[in-house]
Amino acid sequence: MNVRTQVAIVGAGPAGLTLAHLLRLRGIDSVVIENRSREYVEHRIRAGVLEHGTVQLLTEAGLADRLHREGMVHEGVELLFDNEGHRIDFAALTGKSITVYGQHEVVKDLIAAHEGPLHFEVSDVHVNPSSAVVEFVHNRQKQLLQADFIAGCDGFHGVCRPAIADQLTVYEREYPFAWLGILAEAPPSSHELIYAYSPRGFALHSMRSPTVTRNYLQVRPDENLDEWPDERIWSELRLRLDRDDPAWHLADGPIIEKSITPLRSFVADPMRYGRLFLAGDAAHIVPATGAKGLNLAVADVIILADGLTEWYSSGDEQLLDAYSSACLRRVWRVQHFSWWMTTMLHLDPSGDPYARQLQLSQLRYVTSSAAAATSLAENYVGLPLHRQEAS
Ligand code: FAD
Ligand code: DHB
Repeated sequence: MNVRTQVAIVGAGPAGLTLAHLLRLRGIDSVVIENRSREYVEHRIRAGVLEHGTVQLLTEAGLADRLHREGMVHEGVELLFDNEGHRIDFAALTGKSITVYGQHEVVKDLIAAHEGPLHFEVSDVHVNPSSAVVEFVHNRQKQLLQADFIAGCDGFHGVCRPAIADQLTVYEREYPFAWLGILAEAPPSSHELIYAYSPRGFALHSMRSPTVTRNYLQVRPDENLDEWPDERIWSELRLRLDRDDPAWHLADGPIIEKSITPLRSFVADPMRYGRLFLAGDAAHIVPATGAKGLNLAVADVIILADGLTEWYSSGDEQLLDAYSSACLRRVWRVQHFSWWMTTMLHLDPSGDPYARQLQLSQLRYVTSSAAAATSLAENYVGLPLHRQEAS
């Protein structure tokens, strides 16, 4: 079967679905294809922190009614080290806040609002960056989708980036640790997120609702979930999140999801070849410590939607030609921030005592100097989006 559309979007994650929505608002047709089921993408537990600008974009696009009802607005985070908590006050330092709302909830909202073809459970996807043809199988039928452009929003393990691999320069860093993440039926023990630097390794206390918490532990990248029965996870979290405050108590409860994610930095440059544009995790990955992956995916597609809109309305290719460099400016700022947060907060497994003293010095500085705290805060809440960019 042959089908024609303006933009073929590969991947129904935050990048692909947001792009489809922005294009529809501007009268541009798209077809979205996704290799997983709807059920799977709506329940895939991942990130949870939305930058100020991401919330603004989703609000303006009419996608944020539930987000504003159920999302938790946070005006700061806590950095915990030497058993003492130090608050970074985003509202006072930047006038902005972040919203804690699960990525899978964003995906559910985007799918509910989606209009137009969105095919789940496709297979055998092939993209041609020169002809903008996408081939795939859906309901056992081979389909040929002829588009003007392809948006490769298919994540780190997708097929779009490999299709142009010989055109790309890749920048990469692997870290000697991973995150064990849990979702638990336990009320949050703090009003705000706690990023903890402990001699036993990094821990993060986050949340999803007044009854559900999300917690992370630094583990070795080769560690297996079998080595982490629930009681060991809670006892390690209690040790790493401990503080000199007799009133402090980490509430626990049944663990409903558990996974181990490696930490990685990755950038593919350029983010376009021919008529194929890469966006989100398909083009870049950041270690999760800065809570940036989803936000960066949204920042890319805002720029892509603007470029495509200009092309369709006036035939002008200037913005599309500038797509890659405009995205990469922000991508590198976020790469640096995420690397910096990761390096400051994780224990180097080699146990280098010099490195530990540097980390502690940096933590003391960032929690005592208004200049240093403001730098962390403005990056965390998110630098202004495209074209007012301050980097
Ligand atoms: P994705 O969300 O990966 O979406 C890509 C979509 O493409 C997927 O639905 C995938 O199924 C689909 N796809 C793949 N191949 C094909 C194909 N061949 N054809 C069609 N569709 C295809 N960030 C944080 O800030 N904090 C976190 O705690 C955090 N945890 C994470 C945990 C995991 C396991 C992972 C993988 C990422 C995590 N991230 C986290 C990063 C964040 O979730 C991503 O940056 C974000 O999902 C990027 O959105 P995206 O739309 O670019 O990619
Ligand atoms: C969450 C994830 C992050 O990567 C982070 O830095 C903060 C919070 C979360 O899932 O809630």
